[in-house]
Amino acid sequence: MDSEPVPSFPREAFRRQDETPDAQFYHFPRFVTHIDEGAIAAVTQLYRDYLPAGGVLLDLMSSWVSHLPAEIAYSRVVGLGMNAQELRANPRLADYVVQDLNQNPQLPFESAAFDGAMVCVSIDYLTKPVEVLRELARVLKPDAPLIITFSNRYFPSKAIAAWHTLDDRGHLALVQQYLRAAGGWHAIELLDRSPRPRITDPLFAVIGRASGPAKTR
Ligand SMILES: C[S@@+](CC[C@H](N)C(=O)[O-])C[C@H]1O[C@@H](n2cnc3c(N)ncnc32)[C@H](O)[C@@H]1O
Repeated sequence: MDSEPVPSFPREAFRRQDETPDAQFYHFPRFVTHIDEGAIAAVTQLYRDYLPAGGVLLDLMSSWVSHLPAEIAYSRVVGLGMNAQELRANPRLADYVVQDLNQNPQLPFESAAFDGAMVCVSIDYLTKPVEVLRELARVLKPDAPLIITFSNRYFPSKAIAAWHTLDDRGHLALVQQYLRAAGGWHAIELLDRSPRPRITDPLFAVIGRASGPAKTR
């Protein structure tokens, strides 16, 4: 039983330099990769290690690439992001939803619909991360993994204020606190999967497993 107090966050932590609607920033597609090859390979290896082959997956804050291992088949991958052109071009997605999670953090999916979920280099843009993670706990099956990855690069104007003030270790701790605040997560791991030697972008991950309906607050 976790006896530590549930974390809470000051509203200022989620302020951003650019408070205009995210739809404006993401209006034009960006067919780029946001981390380099070594860091992408580390993300793909995590997916190989944690995501069940043949499963139904949710790629949250998705774009034109999902970084899933090419040799593994999944029964269905659904993407949610801000730019329809990027999502349409993503060869791994069977379906996609365009939704601004900062406007509406409710996920448009049934409970226990997914066997795994990923949030790649994007968690720092969420202004309501606890609500989104509570929703992710709902839409995952019990014990299904959520893999949240990030590096040390981001769009500064759209990242939340707290992200700017913290270093890599601080980012890991912050995302762990999000999961604890959301509730409904167990087996939380904080990983440094940065390629060695560090000639590429670093890569960090916070992984949790959904606890199932009885334990989701
Ligand atoms: C740095 S990109 C990462 C994209 C992809 N996950 C990857 O690994 O290449 C950030 C992504 O977060 C998504 N995003 C940003 N703000 C969002 C919001 N408010 N609601 C939903 N998705 C958002 C964007 O659509 C964009 O695809």
